[in-house]
Amino acid sequence: MRIAVLGTGEAGRRLGSKLVSLGHEVTLGSRSADNPRAAEWAAGHRSAHGTFAAAAGGAELVVNATGGLVSMAALEAAGTENLRGKVLIDVSNPLDFSAGMPPKVVTPDGGSLAEQIQRAFPETRVVKTLNTMTNTIMVDPGRVPGDHVVFVCGDDAEAKSVVTGLLRSFGWPEARIVDLGDLTGARATELVLPLWLRLFGIFGSADFNFALPRA
Ligand SMILES: NC(=O)c1ccc[n+]([C@@H]2O[C@H](COP(=O)([O-])OP(=O)(O)OC[C@H]3O[C@@H](n4cnc5c(N)ncnc54)[C@H](OP(=O)(O)O)[C@@H]3O)[C@@H](O)[C@H]2O)c1
Repeated sequence: MRIAVLGTGEAGRRLGSKLVSLGHEVTLGSRSADNPRAAEWAAGHRSAHGTFAAAAGGAELVVNATGGLVSMAALEAAGTENLRGKVLIDVSNPLDFSAGMPPKVVTPDGGSLAEQIQRAFPETRVVKTLNTMTNTIMVDPGRVPGDHVVFVCGDDAEAKSVVTGLLRSFGWPEARIVDLGDLTGARATELVLPLWLRLFGIFGSADFNFALPRA
């Protein structure tokens, strides 16, 4: 599949690398066409890079791996036309670190960033997933032991099925992909971050994830 990964941070590059290793054609998107980090990644992965708009325009599926507080700006730069009809995997977290640690979760209108994105791009099929764990575990769930889970939510059943297919290809067993229903589920997963960050501080490591043992 032709996939645009918008975001040149650790999450974007990690997801891009995994997708390339699985045979997808990836373009890493950035604010500028000559972003050195994107250029270095692209050269190392025989892949492409470009502006958010160029990356999204050529893609069948788009990943939003930009900072949560700038995701709307990044997606506006990507452009409504370039996102129209496409599945958009949103892994972002709307965290405000401006007053230091711990950060504040920014919940637009009491909802979630994912819903804000869906409202702004109604013809794009937003699926929220992978935002509740560190990037290394996203693409390599076997990195930590146990039946830990990944959450998925979105309003478009077919889009969710495309995304769960990708998650399975990352190594997530079907039984550990937890469907939270429609995109309002993102209100829950975006609010997991204060707990995640608190645990990260206590453990001194990001190598952990959440499991849901049930009777
Ligand atoms: N890192 C993780 O392990 C992890 C885990 C779970 C979820 N996430 C989420 O994934 C997202 C990416 O995280 P990250 O740590 O990889 O990278 P990040 O530093 O949060 O974001 C980097 C991206 O944001 C873009 N950006 C910065 N300012 C911008 C602006 N004013 N307008 C438009 N775009 C702007 C950058 O553009 P340029 O390329 O032009 O610099 C870059 O592509 C975040 O929302 C984060 O919460 C990350």
